Amino acid sequence: MLRSNRAGSTQVQPTAPVPAQTVRFSTPVVETPGIFILARWVARLVGLLVLLPFRFPVAVATVAVSVAVWHWLGWVALAVVWTVADLGLLVWWRRWPDLFRRCVALRALAAWRWVWVYRRHWQPVLVVAGLAESYQERQYLPRIRRVTCSEWSDRVRVRLVAGTAPTDVEQRVSELAHGFGAPSCRVTVNGPRDVVLEFPRFDTLAQPIDALEVPEAVDLRALPMGLCEDGEVWRLRLHGTHVLTVGVTGAGKGSVIWSAVRAMLPAIEDGTAQVWAVDPKRMELSYGRALFARYADTGETAVGLLEAAVSMMQERAARYAGKQRVHTPTVEDPFVVVVVDEVAFVTAYHPDRDVRRRAENALATLTSQGRSVGVSVLAALQDPRKEVLNLRNLFPDKIALRLDEASQVDMVLGDGARERGANAHLIDPDLPGVAFVRLEGSPVPVRVRAAFVCDADIDAMAAEYGAPSLRPVVDEGVA
Ligand SMILES: Nc1ncnc2c1ncn2[C@@H]1O[C@H](COP(=O)(O)OP(=O)(O)OP(=O)(O)O)[C@@H](O)[C@H]1O
Ligand SMILES: [Mg+2]
Repeated sequence: MLRSNRAGSTQVQPTAPVPAQTVRFSTPVVETPGIFILARWVARLVGLLVLLPFRFPVAVATVAVSVAVWHWLGWVALAVVWTVADLGLLVWWRRWPDLFRRCVALRALAAWRWVWVYRRHWQPVLVVAGLAESYQERQYLPRIRRVTCSEWSDRVRVRLVAGTAPTDVEQRVSELAHGFGAPSCRVTVNGPRDVVLEFPRFDTLAQPIDALEVPEAVDLRALPMGLCEDGEVWRLRLHGTHVLTVGVTGAGKGSVIWSAVRAMLPAIEDGTAQVWAVDPKRMELSYGRALFARYADTGETAVGLLEAAVSMMQERAARYAGKQRVHTPTVEDPFVVVVVDEVAFVTAYHPDRDVRRRAENALATLTSQGRSVGVSVLAALQDPRKEVLNLRNLFPDKIALRLDEASQVDMVLGDGARERGANAHLIDPDLPGVAFVRLEGSPVPVRVRAAFVCDADIDAMAAEYGAPSLRPVVDEGVA
């Protein structure tokens, strides 16, 4: 084939004819001598052999030592060396399992998956996914730099083709996940042309998480809520922000609210935090009434509660003006979190227009001014469209539980969230409490699962922490 005069010429397209053009130019065909091609193959092989010890030092050393022992001492010695090595590994595994996992098992797994999953399928998957670039009839693919394995995922560090952007990869996360047989794929940008593709190997959040231990000291900027996909505790900031939880019916909004309340219990007990609850459905929060400083369950009373929060906030702001810029929770000025379950009931669905308008005004005032005076809103919502809650952008932090439509993901988590792998619309209905969140300081959405605080837990919480002094002021329709 290499000797053929026409080798390579079929790849060259003649310049497209233009009707009015008299002179036609075509790309000249310069044939590469076969010896050049052979020399290049040999050079690549030599390069590979030279680089091998640097890329896979342990594997190369193992093979080299085995060959040397067999050559100088014979196969009996080789068998003895291998038996001793295996016994050593066995002792290591039993004695220091974590270290063994980190240093041996996960590295071996990474090498295996690099070769048999990623390198093997890299070209076909990327070409079919549309991530191969061509320039002057040559194909360029992003290059795998490194594959590492954690307990639950593979991280493939990739060098992008010059001239492409990480968004090209972000738009094809679904193709990549299916292509490499992973449940999902998430993209992290490390730097110019340097991205990491994370492919989970299995779902670490498949099992429900029992209610977490009540913390001894409460950090209102990092309340333990459940688990992140990587096994870390999912912590939610409430002080200094407002949080909107969105999910279809049955998605687990209740578990987010109750996990937050549970994480604040010691502060509720000592009076440095208060929960004001609006519970239009009377099903979600009524169970733990004894824990709330105020409680409302009808449209009118809910508006009364929200307006009372606004008055309290404005009174604090007047007191702080010119004296302090940051709120520190105390018994006199506790941190107040206004929990509103199904917030659309008061802002969109309530039949009385006046109630809707006042509720919206109160929520807008709380969310735009409450942050620095220690008042936060934690709201739950089923439908994130603007017609239902046009205040959604006033909530700096959002939690996307299972959603109905793909288009809702960016509505909740912000532009580009779905492209980065936050497929909240694909969350399995059998996994309530699973959500995507954006953690502070990172644009990459993280998959989390809220702990499930069951009715018995709520009863126990109310019995232990719902001191008589905290019995709620039940708003009786007084605005
Ligand atoms: N974190 C969780 N882990 C396991 N199961 C959960 C979790 N959260 C909720 N569930 C289950 O899902 C059911 C529905 O949850 P929940 O009532 O919180 O949904 P919701 O989003 O508040 O729905 P709705 O909008 O109808 O009130 C619960 O009864 C419970 O059985
Ligand atoms: Mg609910």
